[in-house]
Amino acid sequence: MTNNVKSERDSFSNRFAVVAAVAGSAIGLGNIWRFPYLAGENGGGAFLLVYLFCVVVIGIPVMTSEFIIGRSAQLNPYGAFKKLAPRKPWYLIGIMGVAAAFMILAFYTTVAGWTLEYFYQSLTGNLLGRTDIELTNMFDSFLKSSFRPILWFIVFMGLTAFIIISGVKEGIEKYTKIMMPFLFLILILMCIRSLTLPGGKAGLQFLFHPDMNKITPKVILEALGQSFFSLSIGMGTLITYGSYIRKNENLVLSAGLVSLADTSVAVLAGIAIFPAVFALGGSPASGTGLTFIVLPGIFDKMPLGSVFAFMFFLLLSIAALTSTISVLEVIVAYLVEELKMSRKKATIAASLSVSILGLLTVLSYGALSNLQVGGRNIFGILEFLTSNIMLPIGGLFIVIFIGWFYSKDLTKREFTNEGSLKGTLLPTYIFIVKFVAPVAIAIVFLYSLGIFKLS
Ligand code: TRP
Repeated sequence: MTNNVKSERDSFSNRFAVVAAVAGSAIGLGNIWRFPYLAGENGGGAFLLVYLFCVVVIGIPVMTSEFIIGRSAQLNPYGAFKKLAPRKPWYLIGIMGVAAAFMILAFYTTVAGWTLEYFYQSLTGNLLGRTDIELTNMFDSFLKSSFRPILWFIVFMGLTAFIIISGVKEGIEKYTKIMMPFLFLILILMCIRSLTLPGGKAGLQFLFHPDMNKITPKVILEALGQSFFSLSIGMGTLITYGSYIRKNENLVLSAGLVSLADTSVAVLAGIAIFPAVFALGGSPASGTGLTFIVLPGIFDKMPLGSVFAFMFFLLLSIAALTSTISVLEVIVAYLVEELKMSRKKATIAASLSVSILGLLTVLSYGALSNLQVGGRNIFGILEFLTSNIMLPIGGLFIVIFIGWFYSKDLTKREFTNEGSLKGTLLPTYIFIVKFVAPVAIAIVFLYSLGIFKLS
């Protein structure tokens, strides 16, 4: 069977497109939903401090390593490791990545569905003019209702599959380039409103004044996991995207810019949410619902609030969509390149199977809420296993691969674009992937398992 369109690998057309697409993957619910709720549960400033450390010392080097692997192999994560390390078990990282992609999509699309519900509610004018208690009840009863969350899940999964079927340039690039700057702008306006609410200052104190006593093994593990989740690293998403990056793009610079953009959005989300939490009398540790309960309260107090609410939830849905496509792309690239399925068949097969797991995830707030392990429902289990365990393990092996296994010469060639860049940061990068990042990830694991006690 000949397929001319696919005989040449798709690629992103320029620097802006690369950064936009990778930032599109990175920026999403992880920043606006997950970061604030985890920071709220894990001591605010203490969490932010550990988080920033993880992004700089571990995240950026792991991201650069994924780009190097993807661009030099020109394949999906599984195929990439098979090609770069033939007859060695490194391809297992690729398999774990595909498994993680299924699990992440199941719970991520669930939350994306919540976003669609809130978009719909803001459209019909149901969101504003409610008290804090009413907003909490509204969120809870929506989650328990099952039917609507399932409906929105299916709608969102369908949108993701639709974009994936249309391919990299036509699909991913087109949708990511335009919308992100708007989201940024609205977020800034929300920060201003939140900060000027009476009593809002306490929220800034909470987010930016780390209480060192609050840095516990749990906080460190959650911050590490969140840095991986938010940067989309550790499961091969960025190996796949790396394979679409042209040979003349500067990989470290792209990784640095994306991480900066991603972290800024998370911090902005924090600045929008925590002052409002304190001003409106909520608790920062309200769990997964925090964002959905607090934000309508902010819009309620903004001029043109209903318009902003509507635009915000629309843009957040789009930000989530540019993230889900990057996760689904990992599964699809694997099925297409390794199992020789057509892109369309692969997408349909993948999204149908994710939807089965997704239904269980949605129902874990309703009919299946009693199905728990260690106090976590199905949603919580998937979230914990992927972010805090699978992604960091993936990242650990990715840096070990580059630091200890892959040819130094080939790494250098990718890092410096065949010698056309100076590569000033190369020695630092090598030192980090060889020693600092693996040791840091390993310590977090051992520490959080309680084997290794620092005190
Ligand atoms: N980073 C995205 C977010 O913050 C989610 C995401 C997209 C992701 N691709 C990923 C997470 C790959 C882990 C791995 O919303």
